[in-house]
Amino acid sequence: MSDVLTKMKTRRSIRKYKPDAVPQELLDQIIEAGLYAASGKGQQAAIIIQVTQKELRDKIAEMNAEIGGWDKGFDPFYGAPAMLIVLGRKDWPTHVYDGSLVMGNMMLAAHELGLGSCWIHRAKEEFETEWGKELLKSLGIEGEYEGIGHCALGYIDGAYPAEPARKENRVYYIK
Ligand SMILES: Cc1cc2nc3c(=O)[nH]c(=O)nc-3n(C[C@H](O)[C@H](O)[C@H](O)COP(=O)(O)O)c2cc1C
Repeated sequence: MSDVLTKMKTRRSIRKYKPDAVPQELLDQIIEAGLYAASGKGQQAAIIIQVTQKELRDKIAEMNAEIGGWDKGFDPFYGAPAMLIVLGRKDWPTHVYDGSLVMGNMMLAAHELGLGSCWIHRAKEEFETEWGKELLKSLGIEGEYEGIGHCALGYIDGAYPAEPARKENRVYYIK
């Protein structure tokens, strides 16, 4: 089996991270993998925001937990020190598909580079708030963007998760 196919099968969502920072050189490779994802009509309408500044990372985690209805103190990013937030330009009809593929590429790239990753949801709700809109504005991002997902990243702490069995009867063949 090719290395890519093996990596696709062995990637798992990681829910416990070491606090160690992820080197920028690795983050750059993951971001690049995201930027190379296929996109509707080749529009490349998805954008990526790297957050490694602890203060902002913690603020986003707090907000995410609140949106998810968890008690204060729960970290929905499981201690991951880095996150790559993917957003899609709302005026582009395939923005959710495009952004999801960026997320998929980045999670696979992280696995290839020996890092753990996990899709953390609720980016949509975060960027619907005034706080989220202001953050985009502060980065000079113009136009309307929808949060697609956060790719939590970091070094894996603890045992690697077991592979959940694939559900049966999900494929239909018309030959
Ligand atoms: C759209 C989407 C949203 C997800 N949101 C979360 C999330 O908010 N928190 C989390 O811990 N995992 C989240 N996950 C990860 C899934 O729970 C995980 O992919 C699933 O349990 C299968 O496990 P695996 O990724 O190890 O194969 C999300 C995955 C997807 C695709």
